[in-house]
Amino acid sequence: MDQIGGGPVDQSGKTAGVVARVRAMVQDGTLTAGDALPSTRALAAELGVARGTVVAAYEQLDGEGWIRTRQGAAARVAAGVAPGVAVGVTAGVAVGVTAGVAVAPARVTPRRSRESATAVGRAASTTEPVDAVPAPSAPAVLDCRPGIPAVTAIATRDWRAAWRAAADAPLRNTLSDPLGLPGLRAQVAAQLGLSRGFAPAVGRVVVAGGTSEALSLVAEALRVRLGRAPRIAVEDPGYRSGRRAMTSAGAELVGVRVDDDGLDVDALAVLTATEPVDAVVVTPTHQYPLGSVMPVGRRHALLAWAARTGTTVVEDDYDSEFRHRGSPVPALAALDTVGTVLHVGGFSKTLDPRLRCAYLVLPTGGRLGEAVVAARTARGPVVAEPVQVALAHLLRTGALRRHLGRVRRDYTHRREQIAARIDGVRGLEARALNGGLHAVVTWSGPATARAVVARMAAAGVLVSALDEYEVDPGSAPAGVVLGYGALTSPQLDRALDVLLAAVPDGGASVS
Ligand SMILES: Cc1ncc(COP(=O)(O)O)c(C=O)c1O
Repeated sequence: MDQIGGGPVDQSGKTAGVVARVRAMVQDGTLTAGDALPSTRALAAELGVARGTVVAAYEQLDGEGWIRTRQGAAARVAAGVAPGVAVGVTAGVAVGVTAGVAVAPARVTPRRSRESATAVGRAASTTEPVDAVPAPSAPAVLDCRPGIPAVTAIATRDWRAAWRAAADAPLRNTLSDPLGLPGLRAQVAAQLGLSRGFAPAVGRVVVAGGTSEALSLVAEALRVRLGRAPRIAVEDPGYRSGRRAMTSAGAELVGVRVDDDGLDVDALAVLTATEPVDAVVVTPTHQYPLGSVMPVGRRHALLAWAARTGTTVVEDDYDSEFRHRGSPVPALAALDTVGTVLHVGGFSKTLDPRLRCAYLVLPTGGRLGEAVVAARTARGPVVAEPVQVALAHLLRTGALRRHLGRVRRDYTHRREQIAARIDGVRGLEARALNGGLHAVVTWSGPATARAVVARMAAAGVLVSALDEYEVDPGSAPAGVVLGYGALTSPQLDRALDVLLAAVPDGGASVS
């Protein structure tokens, strides 16, 4: 974990005291969103503790979502936290009760921030329990459906610099290149070389309007090249928007079961022995939504099957940046020796799904690459050029890498919070916690996912039912999918409280 400053980290009650005090001050409204906290040095001097004690406290508060720390800038109370928020349990300090989450914009008042700093100093030298503020009567709706990352965590300076670069780009009396801005394609190629173990030639990188548009483009290219509806194998359960995009482009889909190692390659081989498919779409790094990681052995088996049958493997690498547990497994594209893999990545999970930008890396073998280029050229550019300039800037300057380092830490905290509160509790199983920014919670009893989702919605927490991801009914266990990318730790606590209340013991049926 990055530290704001050096010095030993004091694990005694002093760190917990600083943490508890700051939380309490946010809860009682003494500190509000945007308020600056004292520097670690100043607060440590005031309290007479090692600076590392305060650094550790700020780290923990940042990880829990109460404050935001940035190197070289004052730590501030995070946006989106406000009086009445629930208190996290990860610190091991027993304070507070669960309350609703309100989202209240607050103005920064430098005078009050100075007062607050002194108050933090005064109070933090004790480890007394802190009284919580009563819950507000109408808690805000908390959207925990998967797909929303921590968009607001990007450094404002970096975000603005990227858009200034887009505004400063010379105006031209020409149309955009339908394959994408060369500068962005080059940055993507370089980034893949650094982070995914394969560095494609820039000419193989093609920009798309999100992963779903990329998949629809692949389906269209196959249809044009084959002169018939392409048959495409997909994971079951799997990515709904991707399926919709491919069927809209004229593809026929075949669902293939997944297990703890991802797509079942033996089942794929059996299923397609008599009726072959033209492509298979997989999420090997973090199967969506169940979260299994395809081991290297199965990756090789999939590639061998693809080479034998002449099938294209489409690798949807949608959230590989957020691997949490275990050693990294190489991308299929990095293992591919025959040029059968078409790799798809994007910025919806790493940055902001509203940008609608993804990329394809064309396979080196066969003729599909040419067909995709032809389809892309026929459809024309889909990502506005200023968006592409801004993204290229974020990649070139390292701003995206810094952002990822920061949110990775937050996501790890959230996963640990979910595991601690849910896994094995009352017959529930928490899955998909080895990476990414969503969790799956399943149970073995007869309660239906739809009933649990409806109960949670009635309590103001939105999640998705696992069966919504099925191709064939019954392919997924009973459970819900919960996205935590955009949640603070207190918000996640509230969602988990509601989930625990909505699922009866062991998933006994819900009326
Ligand atoms: C499996 C999978 N792939 C890709 C994406 C990103 O999709 P898009 O780029 O269309 O926003 C998502 C988003 O939820 C996803 O779940």
